[in-house]
Parts: sequence; structure tokens; C-alpha cells
Amino acid sequence: MERTLVLIKPDAMERKLMGEIISVYEKKGLHITALKIVKPTIDIAKKHYNEHKGKPFFQELINFITRGEICALIIESDNAVEIVRKINGATDPQDADAGTIRGRFALSKSENAVHSSDSVESAAREIAIWFSDRS
Ligand code: CMP
Repeated sequence: MERTLVLIKPDAMERKLMGEIISVYEKKGLHITALKIVKPTIDIAKKHYNEHKGKPFFQELINFITRGEICALIIESDNAVEIVRKINGATDPQDADAGTIRGRFALSKSENAVHSSDSVESAAREIAIWFSDRS
């Protein structure tokens, strides 16, 4: 069984899309094993997005993810990382298929509704950041 981390980002939380987005994962038969709503600190945001440090959009990313509440989820299933990334769709909503979460709800490349881990290793690292009691 594989685990992945999802963040429902401030743009989606502000538009009250949390329930609808969670329901997409549940209806796919995925098992949500942990869930929390938090307003990220700058410190946790920088840890989470450490691999993007130095990129031109890094500061925008940190400003955005810390501007309001996010919902962090641990999702478990066989192939959880790949399945959730397919459900979420491409990073840029212009490239995202219409049926994906980003295709339906994302506003831009930065305000793109959801994040999910890009590998099993990233999932372990990110789950340890957001759910320090569960890693
Ligand atoms: P996410 O899956 O959370 O992982 C890194 C995030 O960086 C990504 O989603 C996008 O929201 C953001 N991102 C990636 N590329 C760009 C970009 N060129 N401009 C702004 N934001 C970006």
C-alpha cells in the first residue's frame, strides 16, 4: 500500500471547494487516512517547497500557500502517487484535461487548487512535514 500527500490550496479553500475536491478522491475509491486544516507558516511552506528554492516563482509560491488555510490529506492505495497525480491533472490549468481537478477548478499555474507528491520518496518527506506525528 502506497501513501501520498495532497494539499488543497488556499484558492480552492477560499472558494469553498474542499468538500467537492475530497469527494473526487473518495468516489475514486481512495482511502483518506488523515486530514487537517491549517494556515501554513512561512517555515513549513519553505520546507515543503524546498526543491523550488531559487526559482523565479518561489516567493510567489510561498506568499500564496501561506495566505490562508489549506487542507492536508494523506491518501492511501496501491499506486496512490500516480493515481492522485492523474486525478489532479497538469500543473498548468491550460494543459490540464477538462475532467481533472485542475482542469475543473484551477485558476492559474500558481493558483492551481491542489498539490500532490510527485514520488513515493517525496510523499514520505512531505507527510513528515505536515503530519509529524504520523511519519
Ligand atoms: P505544486 O504541485 O504545488 O508544486 C509546485 C508548484 O509550483 C506547482 O504546483 C505550481 O503551483 C507552482 N509553479 C510551478 N511552476 C510555476 C510557474 N512557472 N509560475 C508560478 N508557479 C509555478
